[in-house]
Amino acid sequence: MEKYGVNELRKMFLEFFESKGHLAMKSFSLIPHNDKSLLLINSGMAPLKPYFTGAEIPPRRRVTTCQKCIRTGDIENVGKTARHGTFFEMLGNFSFGDYFKHEAIAWSWEFLTQVVGLDPNRLYPSIYQDDDEAFDIWNKEIGIPADRIFRFGKEDNFWEHGAGPCGPCSEIYYDRGEKYGCGKPGCTVGCECDRYMEVWNNVFSQFNNDGEGHYTDLIQKNIDTGMGLERLAVVVQDVDSIFDVDTIQALRNKVCEISGKEYEEDHETDVSIRLITDHIRSATFMISDGIMPTNEGRGYVLRRLIRRAARHGRLLGIDGLFLARLSASVIEGSKDGYPELEEKKDFIFNVLNNEETQFNKTIDQGLHILSEFEEKMQSEGKKVLDGQDAFKLYDTYGFPLDLTKEILEEKGYGIDEDGFHAAMEEQRERARSSREVTNYMGADATVYDEIDPSVTTEFTGYDHLEDTSKVTVLTTETEIAESLMEGQKGTIFVEKTPFYATMGGQEGDCGIIKGANGVFEVEDTIKLRGGKYGHVGVMKSGMISNGEKVTLQVNEEARKNTEKNHSATHLLQKALKTVLGAHVEQKGSLVTPTRLRFDFVHFQAMTPEELEKVENLVNEKIQEQIPVVTDIMDTEEAKKSGAMALFGEKYGDKVRVVSMGDFSKELCGGTHVKNTAEIGLFKLVSEAGVAAGVRRIEALTGPSVTAYYKAQEEKMHEAAALLKTTPADLLEKIAHLQAEAKALQAENESLKSKLAKEALGDVMDKVTEVKGVKLLAASVPDVDMNGLRDLGDQLKEKLGSGVVVLASAKDGKVSLLAMVTDDAMKKGAHAGKLIKEVAAVVGGGGGGRPNMAQAGGKNPEKIDEAVAKAAEVLEGQIA
Ligand code: ALA
Repeated sequence: MEKYGVNELRKMFLEFFESKGHLAMKSFSLIPHNDKSLLLINSGMAPLKPYFTGAEIPPRRRVTTCQKCIRTGDIENVGKTARHGTFFEMLGNFSFGDYFKHEAIAWSWEFLTQVVGLDPNRLYPSIYQDDDEAFDIWNKEIGIPADRIFRFGKEDNFWEHGAGPCGPCSEIYYDRGEKYGCGKPGCTVGCECDRYMEVWNNVFSQFNNDGEGHYTDLIQKNIDTGMGLERLAVVVQDVDSIFDVDTIQALRNKVCEISGKEYEEDHETDVSIRLITDHIRSATFMISDGIMPTNEGRGYVLRRLIRRAARHGRLLGIDGLFLARLSASVIEGSKDGYPELEEKKDFIFNVLNNEETQFNKTIDQGLHILSEFEEKMQSEGKKVLDGQDAFKLYDTYGFPLDLTKEILEEKGYGIDEDGFHAAMEEQRERARSSREVTNYMGADATVYDEIDPSVTTEFTGYDHLEDTSKVTVLTTETEIAESLMEGQKGTIFVEKTPFYATMGGQEGDCGIIKGANGVFEVEDTIKLRGGKYGHVGVMKSGMISNGEKVTLQVNEEARKNTEKNHSATHLLQKALKTVLGAHVEQKGSLVTPTRLRFDFVHFQAMTPEELEKVENLVNEKIQEQIPVVTDIMDTEEAKKSGAMALFGEKYGDKVRVVSMGDFSKELCGGTHVKNTAEIGLFKLVSEAGVAAGVRRIEALTGPSVTAYYKAQEEKMHEAAALLKTTPADLLEKIAHLQAEAKALQAENESLKSKLAKEALGDVMDKVTEVKGVKLLAASVPDVDMNGLRDLGDQLKEKLGSGVVVLASAKDGKVSLLAMVTDDAMKKGAHAGKLIKEVAAVVGGGGGGRPNMAQAGGKNPEKIDEAVAKAAEVLEGQIA
């Protein structure tokens, strides 16, 4: 048998199935699309699921691929054995409702025996226990004797992986000979040892698993096959393990060369050599598919693989960066099947170097700290590392939780994982609350101080919103960096930029910066000492490195809206001076994409007429379509021309003057519309005082005005809907409701006094005589002063002659009323004086005329005492 290489075998397989009418498709990305059940593509069929279920029409009913796959389920064993690995390529042929068992079985046999030339006597098929159809095909059509066909249960011969298409299968085993056997009696196909190696799996894919173990028939019967390319190479090349096949062996040798170690001399060394060999393959392919090392999901898998490999490099005694060098070997060995690796080479090396550098900075310290934790645990007789400690290793030294766990497990220790996650959550919480007081830019102030003072930026944004330039400095939130990676926050500096940096009240631009391998989102642009423009934001994808050529694109909509607001601010300033007088002077301003704010000297609130005049004047100037012109002039010349400048502000020799016809002329470095017409509309929304003699105006322009009116309109519609009318009839409806409310209120009052009278019962029972003068003193519940007066009038009339004193408590307050008829007055009764003394009892005061007086009080609980007091006071008044 010829010893075909890995790259040859891949080609042979695809060509064989092309000759059987299959469409050979390129390997799909390792990142699954529209499939939440998988983190990474783990088999040839995974990216083809929609074709199996019939959800999508395949480009052809027969397809063949060699698919890059990653399985990390056994990652703990990688390196420890020669069988385990995380990365592999899967050869597969697929039928979507086209051929079924007959063809699939026959072609797999043909490929293995005729094309590759494996010895048929060493091959053993297995089938799902009840699949007599498959048995007959093997036995009668292919001619395999019945005793060489093995029946296995669901565990072995029913293929499924997460949600999706699945079914019974027929695997083909290869007998590698006695030297690989365990020698135990009964060692045969299915034995756990290395003698009988499964090479090919034919899945008769006819069910769909919803991911929770519910199976339904697929609308079509499919074929899904999978053969590990590396395993096939092991058999064909007759070598011990996947680490010995041609391409991987070359990589393994490179690990040995870099570390100066020999393979197969020492078990521990072999573990590290194999682990690095495997992990660098996974990492290289993952990065080429656009995965970046991060702390979550796929990115975390990648980070863990890279950091594991880096640590094992240390164990082998490798100093300095080595992963990119190994990656070069991976690319060399695989570029035949995956030309994109060669194209993305520099990017892949960059990402690896970056991640490795970051980890190397702390790995030694981290390992040292970890060994201290071990000592502590040992002396305290503990077996489990504290969650806080594990978190410290993660947070400060970049040790993924799993890495710490592995290192500890090697020594028989565990980790309190719940404690770890709790510590992580606590830190997130802290970060969240601290962000509220100092945003991440504020907190960074110091990193910018480390930038070389000779770095400057040229601003090209007066005329352009897009430009290309070269990166001069990169910083993370805390330090100067060589690269920024996906998910990282930081600041980018370039030689020239169209981004306007926050200055003179105008807010900095937002937008994006694109490099060959990544996109950075600019959230703010800031100007730093020495004329440096910092683009502050976050890496959205990929990475950007120092020295790279980048394209800078300002967010056009935001910039244009900011310009409308800025130009309107100039018109506003002049309009205020015109309407209010020359004393108006700018005290501050803020111009953003959504609004403008202008503070100015003025000593009283503006009247509605003044506000209207100012608003109208600005809108007139917008209507006049005045060109906005900028000139650079000498400062003195500019001041002489009458340009408005900020009092006390220092200007250089040359200044920029922005003019809008004869109306406005200001010294200004900001960006503006080209013609006032672009502002569209101007609307004042508030005017208020902010300090003694300083007023603040807030206003809107262009689309914000439209949005403002729209919001007002919506409110009006809502109000109309609440009142069950239309906006047109709203005012009439309100007047109607007000009248109705007034009538109801009056009715309510009269009802209340009526009720009070009733509650008083037959009041005449309560009439007493004080020295020949009739007195009616009583309390009634829950009546206000108006009600008491009503009631008092009625009672006085009924009494004919005498004194009426009424008291009532309502809402915690007491109302008191006294009325005296003329003849009682003649006998000495005095309402005003009487009420004064009565009110004192309920903690109040009051007074009035001799015939009528009212008062209030605040102690309702003393109301009966007050009523009783009336007789006593009256007695003193009558001669
Ligand atoms: N999908 C099958 C497997 O991965 C062929 O083994």
